[in-house]
Amino acid sequence: MQHRTLGSQGLEVSAIGYGSMDLTMAYGPGDEQEGVAAIRRAHELGVTFFDTAELYGWGTGSNEILLGNAVKGFRDEVVLATKFGFERTEQGLGLNSRPDNIRKVTDNSLRYLGVDHIDVLYQHRVDPDVPIEDVAGTVKELIDAGKVKYFGLSEAGPQTIRKAHSVQPVSVLQTEYSLFERDVEQLFPVLDELGVGFVAYSPLGRGFITGAAKPAGEYDATDMRNFDPRWQSGNFEKNVDAVNKLADLAATKGITVSQLALAWLLTRGEHVVPIPGTRSPKRIEENAGAADVSLAEADLASIDAILPRGGFGARYAEGHVPTWI
Ligand SMILES: NC(=O)c1ccc[n+]([C@@H]2O[C@H](COP(=O)([O-])OP(=O)(O)OC[C@H]3O[C@@H](n4cnc5c(N)ncnc54)[C@H](OP(=O)(O)O)[C@@H]3O)[C@@H](O)[C@H]2O)c1
Repeated sequence: MQHRTLGSQGLEVSAIGYGSMDLTMAYGPGDEQEGVAAIRRAHELGVTFFDTAELYGWGTGSNEILLGNAVKGFRDEVVLATKFGFERTEQGLGLNSRPDNIRKVTDNSLRYLGVDHIDVLYQHRVDPDVPIEDVAGTVKELIDAGKVKYFGLSEAGPQTIRKAHSVQPVSVLQTEYSLFERDVEQLFPVLDELGVGFVAYSPLGRGFITGAAKPAGEYDATDMRNFDPRWQSGNFEKNVDAVNKLADLAATKGITVSQLALAWLLTRGEHVVPIPGTRSPKRIEENAGAADVSLAEADLASIDAILPRGGFGARYAEGHVPTWI
């Protein structure tokens, strides 16, 4: 597996990473043993970059515990990334990037993961009530204390990135990016200017750009895709049509549509690393294989002709699309 460097502080990771959110949330109930097997298979295939968050095991650390246990035998060979920044309130999920909460969540993450340092610590969402300089300053303290190596932001806008970077260099921005979701490309000039890397989350469009999408209502009741605009009637059919065309193109190259979608992301810049999620060790093989796919200019033109501006429908349900501040 080829490697890429994210940011200017020396963070080196495999070109295809792995997101572990799906093992405990978002897409219906999972099987813990299968999740552990998927992570270990990813490592065997050369994947060195593993993504988790406090949120994915809310209140119990279940996602970080699962990831920490899975990588126990090879922890020093991999880069572990986690995130802080939420809190539960009576109204539901709120934001909390106050320094005391960052310190508490980081200590919890270290314990849940069973490690003496976190490689990448992200702010999961920008908290408008806490100056980003205070957030960056707190992460800097944690880096100085040896608890954290690199600083990341998720779903942040240009002003936030600049201000944070002036206090503690930001190594990586993580935001949704895929053939279905291209808005983030407008942030790339700032990332280039500051030398910040980019991690593409939901790079398979939450599983839509794989050929495995089912209409809303056909997933487990706890699966968020039942409510995702791209799965709703009207958008769903158009998105299926686009994925079918992409799959036809992929077939001419002897690859799968998932591989085409991930390989396309790798062509978007040397600073881009996708982190697909899957519970299946078999699908990890398919996804990791995308690192060996090369797409010609003609392929990129065909892809652009099929999906010039992304998929149909917003990426989150109304009122939940993150605002870049
Ligand atoms: N920073 C943030 O706010 C944020 C938000 C969302 C996600 N993330 C991170 O990004 C990671 C990936 O995003 P994601 O899981 O939302 O979306 P994704 O990687 O685009 O898609 C995951 C879905 O695709 C399916 N899948 C994966 N590979 C497949 C293949 N080769 N063939 C068919 N189906 C396949 C998986 O199902 P199976 O398990 O059945 O294979 C799963 O349902 C997460 O795990 C998380 O770490 C971060």
